[in-house]
Amino acid sequence: MNEMVADFRGPTTNFTALMDLPTGPVPTEPYRSPAYFELERERIFKRAWLCLGREERLEKPGSYFVQPIEVAKASVLVCRQKDGSIKAFHNVCAHRSNTLVLDTEGTATRFVCRYHNWTYRNDGALAGVPDERNFFGLDKKTCGLKSIATETWEGWIFINLQREPEVSLAEFLGDFGEQYRGIPYQNANKSILYVSHLNANWKVIADAFAETYHIPAIHPETIGSTFASKENPYARPISAQGWGPHRSVSTYGNPEYAPPERARVERLAYSSIATGNVLSAAGLDDMDVFLKHPAINPTKSQHWAVDVTWLFPHFQLDVSPGGFWTHHFWPVTYNSTRWEARFHMPDAQDVWQRLQQEHYIARLGEILLEDVGNTERTQQGLESGAHDTMPLQDGEVMIRHNLHHVQKWIDAETARDALA
Ligand code: FES
Ligand SMILES: [Fe+2]
Repeated sequence: MNEMVADFRGPTTNFTALMDLPTGPVPTEPYRSPAYFELERERIFKRAWLCLGREERLEKPGSYFVQPIEVAKASVLVCRQKDGSIKAFHNVCAHRSNTLVLDTEGTATRFVCRYHNWTYRNDGALAGVPDERNFFGLDKKTCGLKSIATETWEGWIFINLQREPEVSLAEFLGDFGEQYRGIPYQNANKSILYVSHLNANWKVIADAFAETYHIPAIHPETIGSTFASKENPYARPISAQGWGPHRSVSTYGNPEYAPPERARVERLAYSSIATGNVLSAAGLDDMDVFLKHPAINPTKSQHWAVDVTWLFPHFQLDVSPGGFWTHHFWPVTYNSTRWEARFHMPDAQDVWQRLQQEHYIARLGEILLEDVGNTERTQQGLESGAHDTMPLQDGEVMIRHNLHHVQKWIDAETARDALA
């Protein structure tokens, strides 16, 4: 305990050095340069495996969803097949390239293009062409939807926009993929989704969720005393790790946290569960396996609140004692981003749980607004050109690690070189 107190208040925790990163200031150019964004588009987003989320979204054969990937100028149609497997296609008709599916999700075994009624099966095959005889030897077999490489790992769907991916998903995930096997994701089929368009570079938004240094400053009334305490006033993380381009930190939780006297609704909501867990609307049943998993809270600290795991390039997975949530930072232009946050929670079993969930959702909205409230102003500041570099402290190690690997992927001739 004394040692931990000393760590949280003493000299730098040195995770940056442990992760083999230099400690000098980092450049701001990657956040404000249209030319740099073009390199990210070609070298990163068109070469890396991209996590699209949980496969539970595709509940049964015929289930589908459409994922816009603006940075690749693509729309991706992801479909559960008859045999249970998952296939992804460019959501583009093979006739004159109209967008095929216009809604965001649903169930269908056939898709009809609304331009000239060409019809496709959900395995991508072209099934019907009106007035087919008026074409010139049309070979329907070669006019299916263009498929996109898809793999799943631990229930997470990934795609790769290279025609022939240079590396497999297993190679891309490397040791991370091994260590994070067997985590039971509770309530994976139930979530609430927040989507927002923000006028800031995708890394500005991702960075906002990648460190806890900001917590005492921007969340004093919401989670300020959950993630910081007298012992750890600046919310230093407990541990940090990197695996190739992927990274994770375990954040500190104040073990003494209790809602203050004046927070009447919060006190009421949390009186129904046996813990001061204010980070999730899930109960703690069945969470043991989750907490015992060696990859989660790897030092098994009693002061643990959340593991923030950032899968390169654009996906964050957060795991807390009460459940998990995810962030997708989808780049649109060099200074705009579509941010999707999904919070997983079960159906409420009783009125208390419902109250707790409603409280959680309202509170989440508040916290998320605090988190992204600075991002557009930050982007303006970056674009002003006032500063060419920024200093990062040890608690901001994931930001440094990301910039390092973004540059590495840009410099690398091949995806395999980028991972080397
Ligand atoms: S573009 Fe789709 S049917 Fe013509
Ligand atoms: Fe925050």
